[in-house]
Amino acid sequence: MREWTASQGGVWWDEDGLALIEQTLLPEEYRVLRPRTLAEVADAISRLAVRGAPAIGIAAAYGLVVALDEAAPSTAPEAGRLLDGAAETLRRTRPTAVNLAWALERVLAEAGAHAPISAASYRAAVFGAARELAREDRELCRRIGLSGVEALGSARRILTHCNAGALATGGYGTATAPLYLLHERGEAVSVLADETRPLLQGSRLTAWELHRAGIPVRVTADGASGALMARGLVDAVIVGADRIAENGDTANKIGTFNLALAAAYHGIPIYVAAPFSTFDPKTPDGSAIPIEERAPEEVLAFAGRRVAPEGVTSLNLAFDVTPHALVTAFLTDQGVLRPPYPASIARLSRQGVS
Ligand code: MRU
Repeated sequence: MREWTASQGGVWWDEDGLALIEQTLLPEEYRVLRPRTLAEVADAISRLAVRGAPAIGIAAAYGLVVALDEAAPSTAPEAGRLLDGAAETLRRTRPTAVNLAWALERVLAEAGAHAPISAASYRAAVFGAARELAREDRELCRRIGLSGVEALGSARRILTHCNAGALATGGYGTATAPLYLLHERGEAVSVLADETRPLLQGSRLTAWELHRAGIPVRVTADGASGALMARGLVDAVIVGADRIAENGDTANKIGTFNLALAAAYHGIPIYVAAPFSTFDPKTPDGSAIPIEERAPEEVLAFAGRRVAPEGVTSLNLAFDVTPHALVTAFLTDQGVLRPPYPASIARLSRQGVS
């Protein structure tokens, strides 16, 4: 198996078909999953084997190809019906990250626009659209990185939350993209990674990929961010996003809102890094963003051991919404967006990059 590098992202298609890094096993084990059925792709997304908004969009797009290969429809109309059903199954796996629904819609629209005359030509069109989406994501990450470098100025000590890294995208990540770019240029960037309870994406994933890349990273307890800022150890915060409403309210991993409050108190900039596909023109503000609730056991147990009394349950919100007033700027593939947000966000093009 070839050595993984960050520029590869967390999901790709190669000569053996769809490949997903099994992120639940990191950092102990690096394993590549090869889902061969629609149910396996949906399961990988649901249980966070592949996660992060852009990565689940790419996985779902390729999941449509997997569904066609599995069912082998014999006519174009049959393939069309199958694709609609597969898209519905995939869409239901995770509700908050808008990239998932966006990717499915885009691939279906592009493939359908070719008016495929046979099941084989439908498959070719779907595969082409999914591959283009994945290729584009790599480029979007790079452009987000450039926006980040511009916005950061001389800030080099960065705090981040969850994993909005290479593992969460098809390329260099979103929040991590400026860090990889600065590191490549020989700049002394360093990172504080919130551990990110309950599933530890910060300590398991962000620390794993940054450490592999040679970027100095220290894992910190989620509750430590205020103290770290008070000690003057943080120049800027960069986080990713799962959905950004029209007004700039931002859904991201639970704990992001607390981080934004702490950053505002200390006068530290907090940047949200995201491609245009994470901005949802159909969602007017944060109150309209569906927030995924996950199994109580994720909070009640730690590393397989129960850490709450028997009989107690939990409320496990996977995401929170940071009000736009707390966001210093958005780092996008189309530059740095600053307040007032409805206006700067409205100027984003939704055409993608060629
Ligand atoms: O539940 P997860 O691990 O999928 O949550 C991921 C995040 O919150 C990321 O910050 C977000 O998807 C951006 S990924 C570039």
